Amino acid sequence: MPNSLDTEAIKASAERPGPIGVFDSGYGGLTILRSLRKALPDADFIYLGDNGRAPYGTRSFELVYSFTLEAVRYLFARGCHLVILACNTASAKALRSIQQRDLPQIDPNRRVLGVIRPTAEAVGNITRSGAVALVGTPGTVASGSYDMELAKLFPDVKLYSHACPMWVPLVENMESEGDGADYFVRRDLEAVLSQSPDIDTLILGCTHYPLLLNKIRKYAPEGLTILPQGDIVAASLTDYLKRHPEIDRMITRGGSVDYITTESPEKFSTLAAVFMGDTVNARHDTL
Ligand code: DGL
Repeated sequence: MPNSLDTEAIKASAERPGPIGVFDSGYGGLTILRSLRKALPDADFIYLGDNGRAPYGTRSFELVYSFTLEAVRYLFARGCHLVILACNTASAKALRSIQQRDLPQIDPNRRVLGVIRPTAEAVGNITRSGAVALVGTPGTVASGSYDMELAKLFPDVKLYSHACPMWVPLVENMESEGDGADYFVRRDLEAVLSQSPDIDTLILGCTHYPLLLNKIRKYAPEGLTILPQGDIVAASLTDYLKRHPEIDRMITRGGSVDYITTESPEKFSTLAAVFMGDTVNARHDTL
């Protein structure tokens, strides 16, 4: 049931520019936000982490869709005209339905963009061997979204996928530098890379995974191109805004970030500050 206050607020903000909304199930989207801020330093952002309900990666299609729709409506109600689903699981399971079914009803002039399409567009031009590995959440891998996008864009590229259900919990529980991370990262990298000796590129198909980059680098073979998504998504958004001045116009330019989490704001602020290299004062809210 849509929150009626949100419905009113979405209507009231229809003509007013607002921040860019960045949504993730938890901390992962910060890896996208950091690149977005570099690319668009003047833009205002609201970051929403649904840490209270993370991880999404092991949840059903219906739940991920309904959580993501709640988040999008929440961000629209706070004035966002553009929302980035900085989460592969949400992009894989909810983006298309929201774009095709919900947006025309909520407000056809607002936009929701994901992270899978820009990543697929970039990877085809990076791989030399045409053999690409993907690690992601069980939800993203099972959705086949990367396979579909790559098949459309680069039919000759062969994708080898592997789900890593433990990687997001390691990050959400601040264990990314611990021994448990060594065990799971080594095991899962072996599982994906052993599928073909030709693999030359690894997509980190979950925005939490760059937070495990020290461990990933430790166990990745030399010469493997490791592809986090932040800069790819930022470049794609910059290009999108050039092509869509009507959306660009609806972004306020104060260079601020408002951090909102559905879990503990203290815990969120501590981790986000380290990661963003800046003071973070997150607020708690419910969706
Ligand atoms: N950052 C999300 C992604 O990119 C993690 C999903 C989760 O909460 O499991 O898929």
